[in-house]
Amino acid sequence: MTTLEVTTSSPEETQAFGRRLADQLKPPALVLLYGELGAGKTTLIKGIVSGLGLAPAEEVTSPSFVFVHVFGDRLRLYHVDLYRIEEPAELETLGLDELLAEQAIVLVEWAERLSWSTPALALRVHLEALSDEERRIRVEGG
Ligand SMILES: Nc1ncnc2c1ncn2[C@@H]1O[C@H](COP(=O)(O)OP(=O)(O)O)[C@@H](O)[C@H]1O
Ligand SMILES: [Mg+2]
Repeated sequence: MTTLEVTTSSPEETQAFGRRLADQLKPPALVLLYGELGAGKTTLIKGIVSGLGLAPAEEVTSPSFVFVHVFGDRLRLYHVDLYRIEEPAELETLGLDELLAEQAIVLVEWAERLSWSTPALALRVHLEALSDEERRIRVEGG
């Protein structure tokens, strides 16, 4: 288990860190993102998705109403946001298990909401706002 911690000073730096993380992601991969509203989860995912060459950063937005956005074809990436999940039954209809069974990269915002125990191999990313522009990003890899 390795832990990596950085502090970024702008959204651009957080995106750049996401592009670096993208280099480490080989499918199947599960990335669990933790942190409050505005912590920078979506911003980091913009960097990951653009870093993998699947879409430009501006096309990456929180999938708040549909829960999941899909990117890519041969390399498939699912961007999941659990913010609006209210009960465990909704998690089941979402079919996270099926997504994970695919040779895909699955990024989950608000992973705090996952009720089941998460796979040990998941990459866990904790984001925290230190000030208006500073974010501490801690990555724990299995
Ligand atoms: N260093 C930084 N990293 C990421 N976002 C930052 C940073 N500094 C300021 N911000 C701002 O914080 C907000 C982060 O929003 P977002 O990525 O949508 O967070 P979340 O998905 O965690 O709710 C954006 O408005 C962004 O411009
Ligand atoms: Mg978000």
